[in-house]
Amino acid sequence: MFKFGNLSLSTPIILAPMAGITSYPVRMLNRRFGCEFAFTEMVDANSLNYTSRKTIEILRTGSEDRPLGIQLLGNDADQLRQNIDILRDWEFDILDLNAACPQRKVTRRDKGACLLKSTRRLNKLLKVVVKHSHVPVTVKIRLGWDDPEQGRDIALCAQDAGVCAVIVHGRTKIQMFTGTVDYASLKKVKDAVNIPVIASGDVFSAQLAKKMFDETGADAVAVARGSLGNPWIFKEIETFLKTGKIPLRPSSDELVQTMKLHFDMFNEFYGEQRSVVNFRSFFIWYTRGAVGVRPLRNRISQVKTKQDMLDLIDEFRNNL
Ligand SMILES: Cc1cc2nc3c(=O)[nH]c(=O)nc-3n(C[C@H](O)[C@H](O)[C@H](O)COP(=O)(O)O)c2cc1C
Repeated sequence: MFKFGNLSLSTPIILAPMAGITSYPVRMLNRRFGCEFAFTEMVDANSLNYTSRKTIEILRTGSEDRPLGIQLLGNDADQLRQNIDILRDWEFDILDLNAACPQRKVTRRDKGACLLKSTRRLNKLLKVVVKHSHVPVTVKIRLGWDDPEQGRDIALCAQDAGVCAVIVHGRTKIQMFTGTVDYASLKKVKDAVNIPVIASGDVFSAQLAKKMFDETGADAVAVARGSLGNPWIFKEIETFLKTGKIPLRPSSDELVQTMKLHFDMFNEFYGEQRSVVNFRSFFIWYTRGAVGVRPLRNRISQVKTKQDMLDLIDEFRNNL
């Protein structure tokens, strides 16, 4: 059982926010495979105030898509307050502030990981969000801007602001995605605070999830890249934590059925043209590690229609 905010999850495993990835159909697919709590992609505070088509799409959800976290990307207290007012019409369970994104297009606008540079500023901003929000608030941070030792103070300032949990990616901003996750520094964060810590980074398998728990003492783990083309990871982690055994990997039939189900869900959500484009990366992820798949993968950019994609999936099936 993992409790944070008003939620009690039966497993301490969540789907991390991923921009361009964790859309409604992706969340729903992962939920079918045992993911209990999922985040939306980050929503830029600017665009939420004029609710662009893209923002509405990011926020599209349904009654079965719960419990759900919405993540905001902002640095201005007034704007975040307005965002929260707009979000009162949405049904969700956790509001997260992104203080983690290291991408240049975000940091050049002084958002995301830039909030790690000043604990005072982060604390003030989080206090406003916590005070104004009608749902419990979390913050997603990295271990620091350029020094993993900053993690403790950043987490403590978030705790002081009243967040119900911190989600910590175990790298600094300047590390981006390089190197391995810093388990020792994550443990220091966990030891410093008395709110739940959700650890993120390199949870690519059940064994790595267990390593994260064992070495950091985290209360829960967030899975991001490890779920791409691999929704089975949620049950694998759960089973491994409970029994020490890893369930069998999906059969070829199950793998192909899941690819088709996922692609169907994309078609329903995005329509034919965009679903084909958006599923191309997933085709690569689902077929990772399969023998002799390179010629098929090389053709993925030429897949233009729904039928082309279904034919390619069938060819993949026949190759297995
Ligand atoms: C494609 C992609 C998009 C991401 N988008 C977000 C985002 O919108 N908000 C956020 O807080 N983190 C984002 N992240 C970071 C992840 O949530 C996670 O913390 C990071 O990938 C480390 O976990 P992993 O090793 O399990 O991938 C993103 C990561 C990836 C790979």
